[in-house]
Amino acid sequence: MDKILVQGGRQLQGTVQVSGAKNAALPILVSALLCDGLNTFTNVPILRDIQSTLQLLAHLGVRCSMEGHTVQVDASGLNNDEAPYDLVRKMRASILVLGPLVARLKKARVSLPGGCAIGARPINLHLHGLELLGARIDLSHGYVEAVCEQLRGAEIYFDMVTVTGTENIMMAAVLAQGTTVLRNAACEPEVKALADVLKQMGARIHGAGTPEIVIHGVERLHPVSAAIIPDRIETGTLMTAAALTQGDVTIQSAEPEHLEAVIHKLRLAGAQIDVSGSQIRVQGQRPIQSVDIKTLPYPGFPTDMQAQFMVLMAVAQGSSLISETIFENRFIHVSELQRMGADITVTGNSALIKGVARLSGAPVMATDLRASACLILAGLVSDNTTEVNRVYHLDRGYEALEAKFQQLGAAIRRVKA
Ligand code: EPZ
Repeated sequence: MDKILVQGGRQLQGTVQVSGAKNAALPILVSALLCDGLNTFTNVPILRDIQSTLQLLAHLGVRCSMEGHTVQVDASGLNNDEAPYDLVRKMRASILVLGPLVARLKKARVSLPGGCAIGARPINLHLHGLELLGARIDLSHGYVEAVCEQLRGAEIYFDMVTVTGTENIMMAAVLAQGTTVLRNAACEPEVKALADVLKQMGARIHGAGTPEIVIHGVERLHPVSAAIIPDRIETGTLMTAAALTQGDVTIQSAEPEHLEAVIHKLRLAGAQIDVSGSQIRVQGQRPIQSVDIKTLPYPGFPTDMQAQFMVLMAVAQGSSLISETIFENRFIHVSELQRMGADITVTGNSALIKGVARLSGAPVMATDLRASACLILAGLVSDNTTEVNRVYHLDRGYEALEAKFQQLGAAIRRVKA
């Protein structure tokens, strides 16, 4: 397994280009299941999760190809309704094929994704939504089996805001007969990006990006060409690294509108942030001010930025409180940060962070995607060297992050296994 070595103490300087959004690309690639013909998607990030998605689509009979950041997907040959365990276990977002398969083939058999390091991550809301649309759902031998004569529009209220739940049901509803209304739907930019592609395909959707989405079912959809939106979490990660190292970094091809909560909190922490079109310039200042955060569904502070922001607070002046309200176990990175000298106390879903002057480099273990990024950020502000192990987690969701940091002057390199 590869590892990444980081020598702390450098100030990040320069310009960097942000990649396409993993969490927009995954549902958009899957949406190609909803129509026959060749779809072309550009600005697709080169990630393990993208490869896993293309592997799963190919298993279903879909023709897939990726050249650089351009992906072509053609579901004309869709001939299989089963997403097997060995593919789904690699990436739980594979559950996104369930809605489209039921919509197109009237049946699907998808392995239950199971939990992961950050939580149990049930899919009950996905299944409830499909039942309301008229699918019969059976769970057996670790698989979801869904069958329907014809999906029919329904009123669906999500007990909790669920991003992929909203996406799954939206993709099922676009080919249902009649009108579907989703309430308490996720408002994340990735949900709106998916809806924009579905509308290009001919779907009739109103209100995506708000808590109420109205979908009028249509007979069929047609293939499209579309670009993936910028990755707001990668952007936030790069911004936090600039603030952390008192750097001066300009991030290009970003979408500042998707980062209002993160920009607000980084400014409160003392960073100077200037936005101009798709460019975001971040200049870090010392001392870093302590800021409390509470993760919330969009447009609140994103849970996927919690670990990264915790590093900033670990070397801030004073104490801060971080409350994680989305996942029940998303403080795994705390123990590794403590080994690097951070002063953090976890009580339930809150972490009290008392800022220290510096962290100390150490061999650490990544446990999930965002924890990996957080440990690299910690390495940037540590004495001597930090060795981040199990970086395959990082490669799931960040395209060549260490190369981007190298470009900004960080002393960082990957050691191939
Ligand atoms: C998406 O996961 C993202 N993944 C996650 O990003 C992100 O952290 C999460 O949304 C929250 O923003 C993708 O988009 C591929 P949820 P998702 O359903 O959809 C509970 C990353 O690092 N819930 O919005 O799986 C659930 O347990 C990843 O890029 C149910 O109880 O998250 C959680 O507590 C990590 N029943 C909460 O809702 C359900 O049926 C939010 O989960 C569905 C969800």
